Amino acid sequence: MGKKSKIPSKSSEVKYRKVLAIESSCDDTSVAIVGHDGHVFAMESLNQDSVHSPFGGVIPELACRNHTLRLVPLIEKIFLKTGLVWVDIDGLVVTSRPGLLGSLLVGVTVAKTLSLIHGLPILGVNHLEGHIYAPFLKDHKFNLNVTDDKAFVGLCVSGGHTSLIKVSSFGKYTVLGRTLDDAAGEAFDKFGKVLGLGYPAGRVVDEKAAQGNRVAYDFPRPLKNKPGLDFSFSGLKTSGSLEVQKLLKSGGNLNELIPDLCASYQEAVVDVLIDKLERALKKTSLDRAVITGGVSCNSRLRERALELGKKRGVEILIPAPRYCTDNAAMIGLVGIRRLERGEQDGLKLSAQGTSRSAELW
Ligand code: KG4
Ligand code: ZN
Repeated sequence: MGKKSKIPSKSSEVKYRKVLAIESSCDDTSVAIVGHDGHVFAMESLNQDSVHSPFGGVIPELACRNHTLRLVPLIEKIFLKTGLVWVDIDGLVVTSRPGLLGSLLVGVTVAKTLSLIHGLPILGVNHLEGHIYAPFLKDHKFNLNVTDDKAFVGLCVSGGHTSLIKVSSFGKYTVLGRTLDDAAGEAFDKFGKVLGLGYPAGRVVDEKAAQGNRVAYDFPRPLKNKPGLDFSFSGLKTSGSLEVQKLLKSGGNLNELIPDLCASYQEAVVDVLIDKLERALKKTSLDRAVITGGVSCNSRLRERALELGKKRGVEILIPAPRYCTDNAAMIGLVGIRRLERGEQDGLKLSAQGTSRSAELW
């Protein structure tokens, strides 16, 4: 457990073989040990769904309090699980932006403390950059066998973000479009809330939709077929709530209607996402797309994306579900690559919180 002195190596050698990565930007606490080639030696994550579910949304105070309780035990667990020790670790990388400020601060403070104790370099990572690179992770069960040697369009869809990004190469990004109001995950979560499906509701809406009729209800597709690559989900969210209220008023049995409601609503969200992704691919003339973030777990989005890929001759990369939702492995991959390029923050590293929909690039 002693301090590690880094011996300078020849430029062709890999300097950073393994990093310890920490993600705590919202309500998931996650740690991972990741290798320079994106290999995930281990990842341990805990969600706080049961903590926030009674409130129907993330309570920032509770989120950071739980990170404080859980982060250090998770780090101890990952070392026990892998048999690795601190001298095996070449650097610390941590999500430093964007996210809930209190939650980010817990991860950043723990990482800085460990950096001091173990004499390791430290680097803050952009959470969205992590999501975008998640398909390039690998472990013994997940490996898309692709390298990021070509440009692609990234669609990042989560509870806090909905963005289309042109990735020209690692570190070279252009935002093509983003949500003007709510994120796609928020649209799923709020609809699930009015249906009494708990929080977060995206996965349950997806499951219920599997038994439903996608054309039973005609929900709006905001900004679909409109020029531009921005998204808007607040109108759809309102329309979903109004439909449910109307059905309840007319004495409808919600339990019986839930599958059709979920299937129709999900189709509206997915229609808009696929429409804008296709437009982005046309605009950039690129032939690879990455879909990532918690909503990329959605089975219908995956199905439609693969159909789009076939239709346009575009390669579609989507991570395994554990790497779609918030996780430390994706932070590890981006962090180790940036460390290898010579980037470091040192103890001046601080967290940059933003509102959930704002994004830093
Ligand atoms: O990436 P993530 O774990 O956290 C954020 O950065 O927000 O994404 C969480 C979001 C939630 O809104 C959740 O409802 C949604 O991802 N989600 C899904 C599915 N699984 C998770 N939405 C639709 N279908 C799913 N299967
Ligand atoms: Zn996220």
